[in-house]
Amino acid sequence: MSTPQLSPGLPSRVGVLGGGRMGAGIAHAFLINGADVLVIERDEPSAEAARERVESAAAKSIERGAVDSSLDQLLSRLAVGVDYDAFKDRQLVVEAVPEDWDLKVTALRGIEERLADDAYLASNTSSLSVNGLAGELKRPENFLGLHFFNPVPASTLIEVVLGKQTSPGLAAAAKGWVEALGKTAVVVNDAPGFASSRLGVAIALEAMRMVEEGVASAEDIDAAMVLGYKHPTGPLKTTDIVGLDVRLGIAEYLHSTLGERFAPPQILKDKVARGELGRKAGKGFFDWPS
Ligand SMILES: NC(=O)c1ccc[n+]([C@@H]2O[C@H](COP(=O)([O-])OP(=O)(O)OC[C@H]3O[C@@H](n4cnc5c(N)ncnc54)[C@H](O)[C@@H]3O)[C@@H](O)[C@H]2O)c1
Repeated sequence: MSTPQLSPGLPSRVGVLGGGRMGAGIAHAFLINGADVLVIERDEPSAEAARERVESAAAKSIERGAVDSSLDQLLSRLAVGVDYDAFKDRQLVVEAVPEDWDLKVTALRGIEERLADDAYLASNTSSLSVNGLAGELKRPENFLGLHFFNPVPASTLIEVVLGKQTSPGLAAAAKGWVEALGKTAVVVNDAPGFASSRLGVAIALEAMRMVEEGVASAEDIDAAMVLGYKHPTGPLKTTDIVGLDVRLGIAEYLHSTLGERFAPPQILKDKVARGELGRKAGKGFFDWPS
C-alpha cells in the first residue's frame, strides 16, 4: 500500500480551524487527497475529540476501499493542536468554527496574522456575508468562502463563494482545489443564502405555504418533487432532517436581507413554538418514531 499522492492542484500544507463536524470532514477530505493537514482546536479536550473524528473518518475510507493506504501512513500527515502559531507554514487555512460573527472575525484575524502574505484563507460559513468577513481582514483578496456540505465525505458539492475583493487567481485556484478533492464546485458571488440555501429554502417555504393552504398533504407535496422532479428527498422531509428551527433561522435571515418572499410561514413558526423541530424531536411535518 502506498500513501496517496498529492492530487494535482491541491496545496500541500493545509490548516483547518475547528475540528467539529465540518472541520473534521474538511480535514479528512484534504488528508485522503494527499495533503499534509493541521487541525487547530480551542482546547486540548476538543483537539483530542477532533483527532478522533478525523481518524475514524480516515479508517472508514480505508475500510471501504476509497483510499489505498495504511491508516498509519495516512495519519502520519495529520497534526492536531491548540496553538494558532502552528498555522504559519500553511498555504491554505479553512476556518470551521461555529456560526457566530464575533467568533469567526476573531478566529479569521488570528489566523491571518500568522499566515504568509501569499497564503489563502477560507471560511466554511453557511450563512454569514463573505464580503462582510473580508472587510474585517487585512488581505481580503486572499479570502473567500468554501461552503462544504454535510456530511463532507458523502457530499460532492462545494460552493466557492467569491467576495468582491477575492483575487481572480484565488478564484481559479479554489476551483482547482475542489476538483482535486473529487468534488464539484458551484461558483457564487457572495449573496445571502449563497445558491444552495436560498433555493432550497425558497422551495421549502412554498411547500409549507401549500400545506397551510390545504393544497395537498405533506406526503403528496414531497412525492410531487421526488417523482416529478427527481429530487432525492422532498422539501418538507428535508426540512424535518435539517431541523425546523434551523430552517426558521435561515428564513428569518433571508427575509431580512432579500425581502418578503422569504417571510417564514405561520405553520413553521407555530411548529417551532410547539417544539415540533423535525427528526431530532420525533415530529415535524412528518412523524419520526425513535
Ligand atoms: N453542520 C452542518 O450541517 C454545516 C454545513 C455546512 C456548513 N456549516 C458551517 O460550518 C461551521 C462549523 O459548523 P459545525 O457543524 O462543524 O460546528 P461544530 O460545533 O460541530 O464544530 C465547531 C468546532 O469549532 C471548535 N471551536 C470553537 N471555537 C473555536 C476557536 N476559537 N478556535 C478553534 N476551534 C474552535 C469547537 O470546539 C468545535 O469542535 C459553521 O460555520 C457552520 O455554519 C455547517
